[in-house]
Amino acid sequence: MVLKAPKKIEIEEEKVDQTYKIIAENLHKTYLLGKTAVAALRGVNVNIKEAEFVGLYGPSGSGKTTLLNLIGGLDYPTRGKIYLDGINMAKLDDNELADLRRDHIGYVFQFYNLLPLLTALENVMIPLHFQAKLSRRGKTRKAMELLRLVKLDERANHTPSELSGGEQQRVAIARAFSNDPSIVILDEPTGDLDSKTGIEILNLLRDLNRKGATFVTATHDGAVSEYCNRVLHLRDGKVVSGLQAEGLKETSVQRKTRLEHQQKDKEIAKEKIMKIIEGRDKVSIERLRAGIPSEVMENLPLHFDDIIQEMIDEELFIGNLDRGVLYIVKNKK
Ligand SMILES: Nc1ncnc2c1ncn2[C@@H]1O[C@H](COP(=O)(O)OP(=O)(O)OP(=O)(O)O)[C@@H](O)[C@H]1O
Ligand SMILES: [Mg+2]
Repeated sequence: MVLKAPKKIEIEEEKVDQTYKIIAENLHKTYLLGKTAVAALRGVNVNIKEAEFVGLYGPSGSGKTTLLNLIGGLDYPTRGKIYLDGINMAKLDDNELADLRRDHIGYVFQFYNLLPLLTALENVMIPLHFQAKLSRRGKTRKAMELLRLVKLDERANHTPSELSGGEQQRVAIARAFSNDPSIVILDEPTGDLDSKTGIEILNLLRDLNRKGATFVTATHDGAVSEYCNRVLHLRDGKVVSGLQAEGLKETSVQRKTRLEHQQKDKEIAKEKIMKIIEGRDKVSIERLRAGIPSEVMENLPLHFDDIIQEMIDEELFIGNLDRGVLYIVKNKK
């Protein structure tokens, strides 16, 4: 089962860093309640990479749902940019955004949102009806495969009222994958479940993430940090910290993706360094560091000094590093 089929997006893509599934730049969202303006998001910057499982954690009203809705193309930001796979969603019109949601994003909500008169299988099949390429039989087969993925294939013919809350949420998760989404957003997916069932759902999400799925989930549940790769803490519409979850064993898919990203960030750092040293005969390491975007800096696979040494070894320029200062003898360019 492929959980992240690469797809051709028809809309013209902007030239942004394709390493990231989501890039949010200085996002603001202000709701108007009559004459009162409610600033729900106040300058959020977030990057989400492929195969990440990111938790949005914070008190009620901190902006989790608002941010999730922007990531999921369910609403427009008041200010700022939000890219999905390089597409600036803020620039799409309503129809384009609807197409993007249908083809590229999966959704899971607190109260499952299944259609009560349809069976589990039929619920999972709903988004498949938009896939013209699949035959009726192909759609049924795919929906069964998704139900198997969430270990519910034996209940395929049951309607939601015949399923427990946890089982209904499994159906909703299977449905979220039926369009081979680029990213799945989840708003309080365990909010309506008892803690044991909630943990079962989190375990399932972790398994799917290890198979390559990219998740962003809003949650009140502190336990979620044990399942995510990263938790962003929100307060009053701002991200106040983005912890890297400890103790999670990295899967081979995640490792490969991480190494690719790190390699790319190293190349970006080297390019920036080359630009800064152009025409100079010495420059402090601090000056060089300051010229590298912080998200690139955080992601480098080597110590910064070692990257400079590597550039010298690769003869990108001739120079030497001495007590925090880089002396450039000859810049090859
Ligand atoms: N449609 C809306 N119209 C007006 N204000 C809104 C709207 N949606 C959210 N808000 C306000 O924006 C702020 C952020 O709300 P949001 O729903 O994003 O918070 P949340 O972190 O998801 O909270 P919870 O944990 O309760 O779900 C709150 O002050 C809320 O009252
Ligand atoms: Mg919410």
